[in-house]
Amino acid sequence: MSSFSFKTIVLSFAALAALPASAQEKVLNLYSSRHYQTDDALYTGFTRLTGIKVNRIEAGEDALIERIRNEGERSPGDVLVTVDAGRLWRAEQLGMFQPIKSAVLDQRIPANLREPGGHWFGFSTRARLIAYNKAKVKAGEIATYEDLADPKWKGRVCMRSSTNIYNLSLLGAMIDHLGEQKAEQWAQGVRSNLAVEPKGGDTDQLKSVAAGQCDVTITNQYYYARLLRSQKPDERQVGERVGIVFPNQKTWGTHVNISGAGVMKHAPNREAAIRFLEYLASDEAQRYFADGNNEWPVVAGVKVDNPVLAEFPDFKRDALNVAMLGKNQPNAQRIYDRVAWK
Ligand SMILES: [Fe+2]
Repeated sequence: MSSFSFKTIVLSFAALAALPASAQEKVLNLYSSRHYQTDDALYTGFTRLTGIKVNRIEAGEDALIERIRNEGERSPGDVLVTVDAGRLWRAEQLGMFQPIKSAVLDQRIPANLREPGGHWFGFSTRARLIAYNKAKVKAGEIATYEDLADPKWKGRVCMRSSTNIYNLSLLGAMIDHLGEQKAEQWAQGVRSNLAVEPKGGDTDQLKSVAAGQCDVTITNQYYYARLLRSQKPDERQVGERVGIVFPNQKTWGTHVNISGAGVMKHAPNREAAIRFLEYLASDEAQRYFADGNNEWPVVAGVKVDNPVLAEFPDFKRDALNVAMLGKNQPNAQRIYDRVAWK
């Protein structure tokens, strides 16, 4: 087979996938980097309600974005679901979303948890917490993100890499609240307090704290929740050795981020895509979506039956629009580079 005809076959598959819904059965093509079991209930719930079949393409964030870039205008993707406002912002910068105006979404999702132009929307929230070794740190000894830069913690802090989106978004929030100069002093301070060079994910930081390699770290709440709900006794033990703090309750509030989604630029099934986003904001879907990763719903009044989340206190959340985390991302990366936080 010549390379020419092979190319033709690849193109015609892509063209078939992009056929309008009316020419075949009603479908929604969903690109997602979420892969939680409870998400299955979401898709069957949507299909039951609308008769629209959900085709899922699941991959890691970077692989998905690369795929969408390669597909360009021929992309069959209707909705992109991913985590962290910083990643949604990146996809927006790459022109992957189209703006959506929906009274349902505007009314149900708080204004600070969606992109003001309607390019993407938050459907659950996560919080970035301080975690400490209960045997080495007293409750109340650390209360703010800023405290992590205090020389008192020299050689006692574990942090994951600065290129990680969670840390970029956190510093993005700090730039907004403290200004660039103080945000840089903070990054410098934390960097000089590190017990070890940044390595691994949030769960690895929690394990290092539990094992006594360092005393304090930062983690998203669901990693801590996962350890406490684990079937493995050694993982539950890690969770039990660690205390958590909702930082900055007396100042700007704990940094919160989102899992979110937007309608893709070339969505062949645009109406189905909007209906899907509106479905994600329904009470039923909010429970599945949030609970799948031990996160909080964004819609007011929706209760999740989750024993670990129920243990968390009500807390003051940063009210900043999550789109700011993206806007400040290039500055945040420059600061981390300047202070040599790997
Ligand atoms: Fe995560």
